[in-house]
Amino acid sequence: MPRVLIVANRLPVTVTPTATGVEVQKSSGGLATGLLRPHEQSGGLWIGWSGATEEELSTEQRAALTEQLAAMRLVSLPLTAGQVARYYEGFSNGVLWPLFHYLLDQVPLHVRDWEPYAEVNEQFAELVARHYLPGDLVWVHDYQLLLLPELLRRRLPDARIGFFLHIPFPSEELFRTLPERDRLLRGLLGADLVGFHTPAYLRHFAASLTQILGLTVEIDRVQLADREVRLGVFPMGIDAESFGAMAEEPGLEAEVRSLKEDGRLRLLVGVDRLDYTKGIPRRLLAYERLLEAHPELRERIRLVQIAVPSRTNVEAYQEFRSTVDQMVGRINGVFGTPRWVPVHYIYRGLSERELVALYRAADVMVVTPLRDGMNLVAKEFVASRTDGDGVLVLSEFAGASWELPEAIQVNPYDVEATAESYYRALSMGEEERRSRLAPLRARVQTYDVHRWTATFLEQLATCTRRKPESRQALAGLEAAKEELLIQLRDREELLALLDYDGTLVPYTATPELARPDPTLLELLSALASRPRTELHVVSGRARETLEQWLGSLPIALHAEHGFWSRLNGSEWISAGDTGAGWREPALTILRDITARTPGSLIEVKSVALAWHYRMADREVGARRANELRLHLTQLLSNQPVEILAGHKIVEIRPYGINKGRIVPPLPPERLASTTLLAMGDDRTDEDLFAAVPPDAITVKVGPGATHARFRIDGVPAARSLLHSLVQAEVPR
Ligand code: UDP
Ligand code: G6P
Repeated sequence: MPRVLIVANRLPVTVTPTATGVEVQKSSGGLATGLLRPHEQSGGLWIGWSGATEEELSTEQRAALTEQLAAMRLVSLPLTAGQVARYYEGFSNGVLWPLFHYLLDQVPLHVRDWEPYAEVNEQFAELVARHYLPGDLVWVHDYQLLLLPELLRRRLPDARIGFFLHIPFPSEELFRTLPERDRLLRGLLGADLVGFHTPAYLRHFAASLTQILGLTVEIDRVQLADREVRLGVFPMGIDAESFGAMAEEPGLEAEVRSLKEDGRLRLLVGVDRLDYTKGIPRRLLAYERLLEAHPELRERIRLVQIAVPSRTNVEAYQEFRSTVDQMVGRINGVFGTPRWVPVHYIYRGLSERELVALYRAADVMVVTPLRDGMNLVAKEFVASRTDGDGVLVLSEFAGASWELPEAIQVNPYDVEATAESYYRALSMGEEERRSRLAPLRARVQTYDVHRWTATFLEQLATCTRRKPESRQALAGLEAAKEELLIQLRDREELLALLDYDGTLVPYTATPELARPDPTLLELLSALASRPRTELHVVSGRARETLEQWLGSLPIALHAEHGFWSRLNGSEWISAGDTGAGWREPALTILRDITARTPGSLIEVKSVALAWHYRMADREVGARRANELRLHLTQLLSNQPVEILAGHKIVEIRPYGINKGRIVPPLPPERLASTTLLAMGDDRTDEDLFAAVPPDAITVKVGPGATHARFRIDGVPAARSLLHSLVQAEVPR
């Protein structure tokens, strides 16, 4: 495995200057705690900010710090107090954090601090480039460094750069409110692989690329002019084994008993950074409601809430702290008795051992964020329950809820329902508790942080630096002609598989206008009558059109991407029944989008549906096409169909029906005597190229990504290539 450079705003340790030097503590927060062990086990570096400002550190302290960090393979990026205030507190945590968590009311009226954000990202790029060695994998993390992948790409064009977002990627509607939305998206596209915790976040990102940058996004990749960027879903895990081992340590049981006052109390436990995304006030309100609605629980239960101080200089966090303080005070004041404190509130971080003891002591773990990228606390609780007991109440707005459906899922905004789910959790019988926890444990153990890291990095390592768009990389018309003639000397049979639109005829405003001209008919006829030649035309068009236009020629025709075939004048044969449950809903959407996109039209074929937008306004058409593809992908996700973007066309067709089907069987003896030419201009022709033997002469007509071996300019070049075959001497 290559060396990995982890790049994140926060190092896994946070530094506080002291009178005698510096104190180094473990950082809190999912990113730092989660990645710590993978980092310890790898031989790489972690580049990030130490948590202390430049002004706070003397020269001696700085030197001592660098040395201490180097021993842990950590490299610190210096930040001044001004940069911390503006890049970290201002733009990262004052703007991006609330916006990405759907808490728009926390975003300041006038967004500033973009410049320092961009500047610190540049600083990171410089530092990373200095430490980079060829072959390293660079793994950038989180919202503080959204511009970094692109800045690194400029400095290290050949590096493999991955990016992972630890927080939600919000709906495109929300993301586009950011004035710097374009730059942020372009920043991320500097990476080779961009990872998210859940499919929904990936979808939102894809929709933003489409709507804001007008890019065409495949399910898991986006093609740029010179590179491909892969997108992936990688739900982050925890070091489950280590939590399990801590939970089994001798002495822990005694601590657990004492936390529960020897079984007198049942505990609800919350563990969070003190952050307004974590839903603590509503959690408290729900707890209050529980005490009101079920007075028999008073003096028998307790909510232990750990709130780890976080971002204490950000105003919203300061206000939030006093809100929580007041609420805790109020509940304890109203419900407390001389023998009982209803809420045990701790405003500081705990050691891992203390945390695990609390997880073990929890009858009910309450994880009720308003939004959370993943929430590792939920998984840590599950992993710590080696006793197989305990109930998890989990917000449906935490990324973890996607993976942990056996938890009691709640809408944290619904205080009444949350209170009832606490009650339900407290009343749940042991059998149900165990049967819900067991699958959660299995999943958390299997998909742990080591697997997460390995999966992401393995995928990153396979990202090639090929440039599929590069026109120079492929040989052109003359080379294709030459190779054809050379092959034909040894292999005298010619099998030509030709696309129609964009290859044999130019695109026209409407599909009916692309009928073959006499010159083409002559050319095809001459080619077909060449000895030992088999000619196939394969198109996305309907049978009727192909038959009408080319039916009199002695050639094979394939309509609808190979669903229908007609070999030299015989009957049309279909590929079989493909089911049609998807057609009506898809047509409804197509009609709707056609009505809203002047110049577009629907083509209804016997199995496929196509939406053409050649005559629509260029930009509007492209945007609508992207919208349509995302919409159809979601709507038809359970249907056996695929959605393809062609040349100014979006096509929906059954799976397995593609131009690759039409390649006739080529037993070894035929293969040895056959020169195979496959030629086409758009994405659907790539299936054809993929289905022919590697030494076939595959020719891409026009620009765009391709796996073909040759690239030629357009229809005239394609015809010239065919013409050279007609003229070529045929050995006797
Ligand atoms: N954590 C900690 N000390 C504490 C409480 C929590 O180190 O006193 C850790 C906890 O173990 C978890 C992380 O902080 O690994 C919180 O991650 P999570 O994904 O739940 O939320 P985040 O803080 O990243 O938003
Ligand atoms: C979340 C973010 C991390 C961040 C952590 C702690 O987990 O996704 O990027 O490091 O919170 O916040 P802090 O601002 O202290 O680094």
